[in-house]
Amino acid sequence: ETIDVEAEQWERGGHEHFMHKEMHEQPETLQRMLSGRLDDRFATARLDGLQLEPRELRAFRRVKVLGCGSAYYVGQMGASMIEDLARIPADAEAASEFRYRNPIIEPDTLYVAVSQSGETADTLFAVREIQRKGGRVVGLVNVVGSSIARECDGGVYLHAGPEVAVASTKALTHMGIGFALLAVALGRVRDLSFADGQRIINGLKQIPDQVGEILEQEDAIATVAKRIADAQSMFFVGRVRGYPVAREGAQKLKEISYRHAEAYQTSELKHGPLALISPELPTVAIVPDDELLDRNLGACHEIAARRGPLVVVTHEGVELGDLRGDRIDVPRNEPELDPLLLTIPLQLLAYHAALALGHDIDKPRNLAKSVTVE
Ligand code: G6P
Repeated sequence: ETIDVEAEQWERGGHEHFMHKEMHEQPETLQRMLSGRLDDRFATARLDGLQLEPRELRAFRRVKVLGCGSAYYVGQMGASMIEDLARIPADAEAASEFRYRNPIIEPDTLYVAVSQSGETADTLFAVREIQRKGGRVVGLVNVVGSSIARECDGGVYLHAGPEVAVASTKALTHMGIGFALLAVALGRVRDLSFADGQRIINGLKQIPDQVGEILEQEDAIATVAKRIADAQSMFFVGRVRGYPVAREGAQKLKEISYRHAEAYQTSELKHGPLALISPELPTVAIVPDDELLDRNLGACHEIAARRGPLVVVTHEGVELGDLRGDRIDVPRNEPELDPLLLTIPLQLLAYHAALALGHDIDKPRNLAKSVTVE
């Protein structure tokens, strides 16, 4: 047993938890994932593993993303990237529900199964259901040679390296990058211009270093986390591109801190949940510097007026005026890619809340890293 303990310490490489190690590996693993996949000459992404000719890529009229848990939330981010960049209707659905509602499988829909482990039973069964009915499904999978990777008709490996902590961090960021690459590849055989392709490619090149910059704010984020860890319940709110970020932030916090966290669209607050705002219920608000900035700030003022504690995750340079609360800044990238960076501080927030509460961070109660049964 001593040998096992020592082996595990060695694997953690000086970090107290695997989750901590995996968050901090991101700048390096992301760089590795991107290398060789960005094509500057044609301002596109090279995804040979998809095994789809440009002619086939062009023929898809819809994209449906399937995944479970955090993979589902990143799938929502990915669906917006695909809609924004390729202008193809796209949405994400929980794979665990998909085959129980007798889904309509269309030959001109590209199905995308997303999974870290590649062994999640719900996602695997969704893949089989699609194939049985003649649909084409590609995988965004981390574990090489896993069931989902083998059974899909093609795919993109995430190259995040082994992820041990139950709460997924680096694999999720890699999934987000995988979707961005797919969105550019789909876009560039349609209406996405060379200039816009190049804009996204250049944005992607900055992501690894920008993730590093956010990780450097760990101490400041830990201070915020300790403050909110006392609350029994909290909200995560965001709009449009920020909403899946909020969902993922709430999920991460629930998984390892066991605090109740609920994600809402900021715009829906006034239609009900505002009734719960009080000094006991903090809100983490995703407020990127985009066309919704003023509206998002308006909602933050509504929360502050009811003395709800606020943590505003925003961009450097955004003026918060007299808004009281904590702020966490992320560097700017392209608006389509911003969700990837906005998610990083929420990983640190969940980690440090769980740490402050003394929980078993890498192996939270009741959860398994990969759920291979239904
Ligand atoms: C489990 C884990 C989640 C994870 C989900 C999907 O429920 O506890 O953290 O997001 O499975 O896992 P996958 O390996 O398919 O990405």
